[in-house]
Amino acid sequence: MAGLRARLAEWRRAGETIGLVPTMGALHAGHISLVDEAKKHAGKIVLSIFVNPAQFAPGEDFGAYPRSLEADVAKFAFAGGDLVFAPATAQIYPPGFATTLAMGGPAAAGLEDRFRPAHFAGVATIVAKLLNQSRPDVAIFGEKDYQQLKVVTQMVRDLDFETRIAGAPTVREPDGLALSSRNVYLSAKERAVAPSLYAALRRCARDISEGVTIQTALDTARKTVAAAGFVTDYFEARHAETLAPVISRDEGQIRLLAAAKLGKTRLIDNVGL
Ligand code: PAJ
Repeated sequence: MAGLRARLAEWRRAGETIGLVPTMGALHAGHISLVDEAKKHAGKIVLSIFVNPAQFAPGEDFGAYPRSLEADVAKFAFAGGDLVFAPATAQIYPPGFATTLAMGGPAAAGLEDRFRPAHFAGVATIVAKLLNQSRPDVAIFGEKDYQQLKVVTQMVRDLDFETRIAGAPTVREPDGLALSSRNVYLSAKERAVAPSLYAALRRCARDISEGVTIQTALDTARKTVAAAGFVTDYFEARHAETLAPVISRDEGQIRLLAAAKLGKTRLIDNVGL
């Protein structure tokens, strides 16, 4: 971390602005789109790669999570990035580490948090550490993890971080499946079915836009997704900023968010209206 801080201090003395793209590695085109977005906001781009044990529950895929540091460094360099920060676990959580951020608001919206209770405490804590370590002007997060984007935005506002948080749209395969490092877990059969989650989100958004009630549109979508073979954790309509439940279209900007398992693989996705 001392090395990171020294390099960033040099850049800052030279008048550079700094953009941070936090990741867990296994980079795909979605991550690279965040690097491209960061370049619009800052002169020097730092990528962090850290598979954060604190945001995985026991029994989740922490051990199996894909790791490909060398390929990641090459992809980031090709995208025009400047510095990779890939700390070891002991550097981030040295013996005696004892702090965790507890958040309400979007972190307690009853979406991901309902199925992964300790997840956002782990995310908020690592993001707070990364922001303190690099003190970037801007940090970029994907809308793919929409609740995470809102959690980080809330945390930065509540704790007076000076970094600006910017979101970037979800990058998808041609058939609509959102890119994810976890897509490698899908069998060929599951991969063929996977895009139907996004298709159901879009259809639901269209139905609501065309005047179908939110409840009816959600019922249809949940049935479609189940019929395709998913086991759904949630398929919800929420206020796009607060993530509070909405029952009518007049309650402001709406976001549809879903998480569902296909075999052992859990997919999450969301769309705006
Ligand atoms: P990770 O899953 O590696 O994602 C890193 C960033 O890439 C996140 O902001 C995520 O929303 C974004 N991303 C993932 N898939 C995307 C896609 N298809 N299109 C656009 N952006 C996409 O999210 C995390 O890591 C971690 O929770 C982290 C924030 C690094 C904290 O540990």
